[in-house]
This record gives sequence, C-alpha cells and structure tokens, in this order.
Amino acid sequence: MSQAHESLENLLHEERCFAPGIEFAASANAQPEIYERAERDPLAFWQAQARELTWEQPWSAVLEWDMPYAKWFVGGKLNASVNALDRHVGQGRGDRVAFYFEGEPGDTQTITYAQLLMEVKKAANALTEIGITAGDRVAIYMPMIPEAAIAMLACARIGAPHSVVFGGFSADALLSRIQDADAKLVITADGGFRKGAAFALKPAVDEALKGKHNVEKVLVVARTKQETAWSDRDIWWHEIVDRQPLEHVAQSFDSEHPLFILYTSGTTAKPKGIFHTTGGYLTQVAYTHKVVFDIKAESDVYWCTADVGWITGHSYIVYGPLINGTTQVMYEGTPDTPHKGRIFEIIAKYGVTILYTAPTLIRTWMKWGDEFPCAHDLTTLRLLGSVGEPINPEAWMWYREIIGGNRCPIVDTWWQTETGAIMISPLPGITATKPGSAMGVLPGISAQVVDDSAKPVGNGRGGFLILDKPWPSMLRGIWGEDDRYKQTYWSRFEGIYFAGDGAKLDEDGAIWLLGRVDDVMNVSGHRISTTEVESALVSHEAVAEAAVVGAADAMTGQGIVAFVILRGGIAHADGEALLVELRNHVAKQIGPIAKPRQILIVNELPKTRSGKIMRRLLKDVAEDRQVGDATTLADPNVMKLIAAGLQSAKDED
Ligand code: WTA
Repeated sequence: MSQAHESLENLLHEERCFAPGIEFAASANAQPEIYERAERDPLAFWQAQARELTWEQPWSAVLEWDMPYAKWFVGGKLNASVNALDRHVGQGRGDRVAFYFEGEPGDTQTITYAQLLMEVKKAANALTEIGITAGDRVAIYMPMIPEAAIAMLACARIGAPHSVVFGGFSADALLSRIQDADAKLVITADGGFRKGAAFALKPAVDEALKGKHNVEKVLVVARTKQETAWSDRDIWWHEIVDRQPLEHVAQSFDSEHPLFILYTSGTTAKPKGIFHTTGGYLTQVAYTHKVVFDIKAESDVYWCTADVGWITGHSYIVYGPLINGTTQVMYEGTPDTPHKGRIFEIIAKYGVTILYTAPTLIRTWMKWGDEFPCAHDLTTLRLLGSVGEPINPEAWMWYREIIGGNRCPIVDTWWQTETGAIMISPLPGITATKPGSAMGVLPGISAQVVDDSAKPVGNGRGGFLILDKPWPSMLRGIWGEDDRYKQTYWSRFEGIYFAGDGAKLDEDGAIWLLGRVDDVMNVSGHRISTTEVESALVSHEAVAEAAVVGAADAMTGQGIVAFVILRGGIAHADGEALLVELRNHVAKQIGPIAKPRQILIVNELPKTRSGKIMRRLLKDVAEDRQVGDATTLADPNVMKLIAAGLQSAKDED
C-alpha cells in the first residue's frame, strides 16, 4: 500500500468541510434520527424499508444468517417488475415520465411509466413465447437504449435471471459469460451510436456463438438499421414484441429467487458471476436511492450516467430509481459527441436536478475546461453524486464549484458489484462533507477499518475495509463457484466480508477510501484484474510471459501498464507494430477498456526466489518512482535492466 500511504499524507491536510444547507436539511428525506433508529434495532429498520415495497406475501423471518450465506425476508414473495412499474401505474402515476431518452445522434423518446409497463409486458410475453421460463438465464448485450432496461425488467417479470454483459466487451468475453451462466437466450441490438458513428454489436454475438453454448435464440433490437448477418436462430425484437398481447399478469417469486448475475473481475483471470436475489436487493437499492439522492419523485429529474452493463446501471438506473417512481434521463453516447458540452446541454435541456457520475469523467471535464459547463444553465442541479473510485479532493472541489455552483451537496458513494447497493456515503441533509471522503456507513450498515489481525484500527489510522454484518443487497454467491465465494470474500478474515479495499479513518472518524489492495485495477471506474490482462497477453503467440500493473493515472485513476517477455524463435512483427498488435489482441480477448496504456518489452521480470512476480517493483517503475526494497529478488539486477529499458523507450518517444 505504498501508493496508498502517500495519498494518505495529503489527506491529512484536508480541513475543508461543508455542512448541508439549512433549507436542504429541513426537507431532506433522511433526518438525523435515522442513524439512531437503525442502530437501535437494525433488523426492525430493514424490515421497515422492505415494507416500502409491494409484496404479494409477507416474509416470515427478516434474516437467516448462516455465514457466509444470507437469506433476507425469508418466505416473502414479490415481483421486481411489479415494484418498478405496475404499482406506479396502478396508483395513478402512469403519466409520469420514466425516461427521457437522448440518443447520441440527437433522436429522443419520452417514455412514461404506463408506456414502459406496456413495453415490458409485451417483451415478457415475447420471452415466454420464445420458451423462456423462470430460472432460465438470459444474456443481455446492448447499447444504452430503453430496450436494455425493458429487456432486464421483462426478464425479472418472468423470473429469468439476466446477465447483462457490457456492450464494450469482446466476443470472447461475451462467450465466456454466456457459457458460465449457461444462458438460453441472448438479447442484443444490431448496434448503437458512439463517438458520432454506428458501431456493430450483433457480429460480436455471432462470433461468440461459434463457440460451445446452449443458446437457442438471439433477439435483436433494430437500433442503427445497419446491415446485419442473419440466421434461423435470430429474431427481430420488433417482429416478435410488437405483436404481443398488452396484458401480462406477473407472477410473484420468492424473496431469494435469483434476480441477476453480473460478472466482475477478481484476482484471477476468470470473471466472477456475482449473483443477487430479489427481496433484499430491491429493498436496499430503493432505500439507498431514496435517502442518498434525496429523491423527490414528483419534482426531480435524475440522471445517472453509468451504463446498464455495470452494477451502477442495475441498481441506480433500473431498479432503485424505477421503484421510487423517479423521472430519469438516459443517454446513449459519449460525453464529447458532438461536442464537449453534451452532458451539460442535456442537463439544461431536461432540467436535471440530481447528477450521479464518476470521478474519471469529472477529471476529464476539468481537463477540457470550465467554458463547457459554464456555457449552459446548470442551476436546476441540487445534488451531485460520485461513484466508482476515490475522488481526489481537487476534483471534488471542482465538481462542487463549477457543476454544483457551490450550492449542491456531494455524495461520494462507496459500494461494489458484490454489495449491490451503496454502503458508505454521506446523507445529504445530515452529513457535513469533506472533499474526497465517503464519510460514513449508511444507517443499517456495519463496516470497520481493521488491521492485519482484524482489529479495528481506530481514528487516524489506515487498514482494510471490512463489512462485519450481513446486509440485504449482499451477493448471495459466485455463480457455480461456491468455494471461490468463500475463498475470495470470507477467508482473509475468518467469517468477515473483506471488500478488497484499503481505507483510513481520519481524526474525526470519517472514512477515506484508498483503492484496491489486491490485484484488481480500477481504470476509469472499471474493475479489471491484472491476471486477466496477463492471460490475454500470454495467449498471443509472440508472448512468453507478462506482468501487468495498474499505474496511477491523472485521468483514468489507474492506467494499465504491461511488462512483456517475448518468445524466442518465432517470427513476429517488430517494434511499434508488435505493440499495436498486442494491444489489439487484449482488446479482442477482453474488450477495448482493457487495452494496456503502455506495453514494455523486457528480458526479465522481477521475481522472488519462489518465482512470484514482484508487481510492487514494476509499479514503482510504471509510476516513475524510485524502485522500492528489492532485496527479496532472486536476481537483484533485473530492476536496473528494466528501468534502463524503460528510459531508452522514453528517449525514443
Ligand atoms: C471502487 C462500482 C472509492 C472500490 C459501484 C470498489 C470506490 C470498487 C468508490 C467496486 C468510491 C467504488 N470511493 N472507491 N466512492 N466506489 N469504488 O464493483 O475499489 O464496479 O471495491 O462497483 O470500486 O467496483 P464495482
């Protein structure tokens, strides 16, 4: 954690603190007593949150905890899609806008709750006609268009767990996820719009399905209308969905019925299929969305800029906001298309009041310059959120001043695919916030910062972030990999969930996240494992061995730096051409987000006598630092050679 310790030094000097405005505090959804209420009786507290949902059958027990397996609201029955849609329409809110959709080329759609419900019902009928029944897994590989949310809700409606695969992943990555979940159906689109052009998605599905799988049908949304290869397996979305009956009576499912699987990177090459169930997950996403974002459904226009391919899109675009009857903006494209003010233009156009985005985008805006946000009216904004990686105090201050006009509280929200919902965050009407700190655990949640022997470190000290009590939206396991579930999360500290993050408590007990302490990188808020990229590199015929590290990067948080040893005796492209080939190879294996920022060809890697690669030393090189203690290296000269090689590569630049 050497890098973590350095940033710690800076944090110690942070003395700025911003209390909530009096007016905001007075009308905030969460009032100070909430902490005490949750503390007094956490299970009664969660039970009260669960009662906000619509259940067909009440639960008989709030929690059954058989470490490390939790069951929440046991015996209860409900339907996720009914909670997100039917109950709003049933209570006369059908005309409220659910989504203002903004396509990248400028096409728009306004979709009310009644319309969204109708589309979801038709899609659910279509899935049933195709032969999908409760328990079948459905892979969803889509651009950011309304049909992505409709597909997810239609799956949930019939009890078929969805596995959304981010549209930026490659055919290979898609296939491995289809295989792991044993999906029966893939829902995709011909393509989507990004950076001013149509990109294709369907060919990646076709490519993936050349592998071994049990996919019977592919449902294809016509988004770009580009030329698309077709087979007997393929069905156009509009051809089957449009002719379906408008009625669909949803069946309720057990509270612990699997709602979805979402793959995320771990410390090995194989992604983990994190799976979530229904009642507890929906309870916590709806509750956190309501209190953290202070949602006033009648008046707010909320915009979470995440993609549905990530957990943030699941919890804070699809499930949480719709359960709370929120009006949202959904945007298909990139923030700089057709110009760098696109996001701000959309905020002004729809009068967005709550914006939830990622530090990497905030830093990008800072780099582009204040003139872009300043050219648009952002005065409707009243609350700002951040997620995905630690937000630097400078970026936090810029977000507050330039985007929030010094008037909006900022909620820096810490959570994970595994936690399902926000765990650590200020509450906007209660917490006085410090720039760069996620502040404290939410009411109902229990977390600690501990040392190597699981002892709480106390204020002013750093350590490992752990969650020491079960929470409703916690993962229920890794799909099909029980031992890995226990090994990954519950073995570092016996019987305690270890999140993989380092954290520090300041003198006041506020929590500062310090990034991952394992072999997982965080690039623009996306988790990528070092091993995954190493395996991709080694699968190229020119590569004998590879070591990958995440190096601090001013824009993306971390950048991927790879050290590669080439195989002797085989012909391969030389110099720059080979590096391009290797980068493209990684993109093909995993997806463009995993492309190394830099690849260095080396003759040796620093290894301990037992053969373990010392990534810590490579990280020092990649971050331009004095190389740390190398005394345990089998060959102490290796680092000098690597550093010299790096220097000559730089000289050539
Ligand atoms: C990191 C995203 C600091 C952290 C919701 C975590 C954060 C990983 C924050 C989970 C934050 C997320 N401050 N770090 N506010 N939010 N992280 O699964 O390292 O894509 O373990 O979930 O992102 O990433 P995931």
